[in-house]
Amino acid sequence: MDAVVSKRNGENVQKSMYIEEQSKKGNVISVIFSLKEEVGALAKALRLFEEKGVNLTHIESRPSHLKSGEYEFFIDLDCKSISSLEEILHSLRQEISGGVHELSRDKIKDTVPWFPRTIQDLDRFANQILSYGSELDADHPGFTDPVYRARRKEFADIAYNYRHGDDIPKVEYTEEEKNTWSVVFQELKSLYPTHACHEHNSVFPLLEEYCGYKKHNIPQLQDVCKFLQSCTGFRLRPVAGLLSSRDFLAGLAFRVFHSTQYIRHGSRPMYTPEPDVCHELLGHVPLFANPSFAQFSQEIGLASLGAPDEYIEKLATVYWFTVEFGLCKQNNDIRAFGAGLLSSFGELQYCLTEKPDLQPFDPETTANQKYPITSFQPVYFVAESFEDAKDKVRKYAVNIPRPFSLRYNAYTQSIEVLDSIKQLQDLVVNISGEMGILTHALKKLE
Ligand SMILES: [Fe+2]
Repeated sequence: MDAVVSKRNGENVQKSMYIEEQSKKGNVISVIFSLKEEVGALAKALRLFEEKGVNLTHIESRPSHLKSGEYEFFIDLDCKSISSLEEILHSLRQEISGGVHELSRDKIKDTVPWFPRTIQDLDRFANQILSYGSELDADHPGFTDPVYRARRKEFADIAYNYRHGDDIPKVEYTEEEKNTWSVVFQELKSLYPTHACHEHNSVFPLLEEYCGYKKHNIPQLQDVCKFLQSCTGFRLRPVAGLLSSRDFLAGLAFRVFHSTQYIRHGSRPMYTPEPDVCHELLGHVPLFANPSFAQFSQEIGLASLGAPDEYIEKLATVYWFTVEFGLCKQNNDIRAFGAGLLSSFGELQYCLTEKPDLQPFDPETTANQKYPITSFQPVYFVAESFEDAKDKVRKYAVNIPRPFSLRYNAYTQSIEVLDSIKQLQDLVVNISGEMGILTHALKKLE
């Protein structure tokens, strides 16, 4: 027997966390196990919890969809009454001989990783960062600079305290920081006309006009966020440190991009070992102002919600080879649209030479491509167009094992899980309304 353990609102008990929901108050652990259908089997299992003084707060049963003649039990345990979860699970394994079988994660169709349902749920990520922004590796250019480290902590604190709906606090950048920006801005801007995709180049002048993109000024995330919202509904959110791939991708489902606000260390303006505000503002932002690219990015995010871990890794790889390092066809040319390229003077030139291997973008193969993170990419994937890439990601997402379909409701900025007839009926009404508008507009054009 094995048990699937999930955790709610508390400390990590077992690595494989599958959180059913987080709406209940207090610390609750959920366990699923199965028993052969025989008199007294459940009583025997429950006695183990009684003997250990564990309080069960909820129990459900259902016929096993894996094995006939067996029943599955879903129970909630009160964390406060548990001294050793492992001990209890061990007892279950030992004492219910032959009556319990292993439930693997993939087979438990209705147990999916937790994902945000509303845009406000993204606030939870602020406290789930993998490392705080002021923690630098020993080989970071700012590692031995106490002023830079203190500055990084200031930025991390802004992000840590940010909540959805707040204006992103404006930052007074120092002269040194502005000088760093100037170098990066000038160098990269000189390459864009010949190396960046049409979509990037068409938005850039607007950013110069409306968002303060210029040589001696680091644009404010608040201004850029407002601009993006008016273009595509995309918004920026300051992030205090490294997010997990799952959390980062989930943000995209809501058209939210987690953005750094600090700038790289001034000693090496053309190098940064991590994303910084130059990377976000010069690489990412222009593309998020493009409707097709915004839609494409959101598709990756939607595909990630509730997906098993191995698919999160695949989607993160798809993201890497598109949003970060993507190339696309442009008339008879190839241009860069990935932010990792558009914010790197060296790699932006390299990617369009004969040296790297160029392959057509196809999520099935792209998702499995290995890649280095500290050197130029040996392989790039070329998208036909953002529309084409979006369709391909959408088709790819169909094969992700999830027991539901979902859609984003832009009115409520929430995810609708389409798992009931009523929801499908509502969707049909919605689509009918849109079709009516389309038909009417077509008639007028005729
Ligand atoms: Fe990035």
